[in-house]
Amino acid sequence: MQICRTIAELRALRSAPGHGAREERMVLVPTMGNLHEGHLALMRQARERAVCVVATIFVNRLQFRPGEDFDAYPRTFAADCAQLEAAGVDLLFAPVEAEMYPRPQTYHIEPPAEQAGILEGEFRPGHFRGVATVVMKLFQIAQPDLALFGKKDFQQLMVIRNMTREFALPIEILAGETVRAADGLALSSRNGYLSAMERAEAPRLFRVLTKVVEAVREGDTGFDRLEREAVAELNGHGWQTDYVALRKKLDLQFPSAHDSGLVVLAAARLGSTRLIDNLEV
Ligand code: PAF
Repeated sequence: MQICRTIAELRALRSAPGHGAREERMVLVPTMGNLHEGHLALMRQARERAVCVVATIFVNRLQFRPGEDFDAYPRTFAADCAQLEAAGVDLLFAPVEAEMYPRPQTYHIEPPAEQAGILEGEFRPGHFRGVATVVMKLFQIAQPDLALFGKKDFQQLMVIRNMTREFALPIEILAGETVRAADGLALSSRNGYLSAMERAEAPRLFRVLTKVVEAVREGDTGFDRLEREAVAELNGHGWQTDYVALRKKLDLQFPSAHDSGLVVLAAARLGSTRLIDNLEV
């Protein structure tokens, strides 16, 4: 695996045969590092779809709000490299901040409020502007044919799909399934912040979402009530829940009783750790 630290290096390698040169297919898998099995499943999926797999590791300041965990975000570069190498990644683009943002970024991608101001965007204003801006920049730098994102960040995936479509980017967006621990907890770099007691409690989020999904599959259309009950169960066990929301998969808008293709999404804090998860109905 070759490691590129600069845009110029990546562009030079990008056009070299065997590294996604134009006639070959190249897939980009953007990450913020601190890789776990969920990321590695994405890398393996990418490997099956393209000749050249390019991973990125960049903790993007733009998508964190003041007071969030930008500084604390785990940076485990050496271990990440070993895992990417073992997963068969060809190129790793891992720029320092001054390479991506040599001066403050003044041009941004502003996703529409009805997609990016709801759910995560309501509780993390500006988050998707930061995500869309860095992803657009990574797309311009790497010029992939395909790009792969995990469904664990379901709203992020929707925003990136819509951005790619509206800007007519010649990139196919692929989705990777959420990888879970044996007890159901969705793998996340932020799970590492949990104490042993919190880690034991954390799978409740998955169980609560599963209960909602089962109820809807059995024909329960009392969506508001199901959401309220889910929030009450979490809060009753020490969580501070931001939302549990049943939405339409396609656009994350409110469903009516006869809609199919739903997803239930949740964000809740356990101690100081904010976890998100979702399940498709
Ligand atoms: O999902 C992530 O890890 C990040 O939001 C992404 C897509 C790499 C952009 O920084």
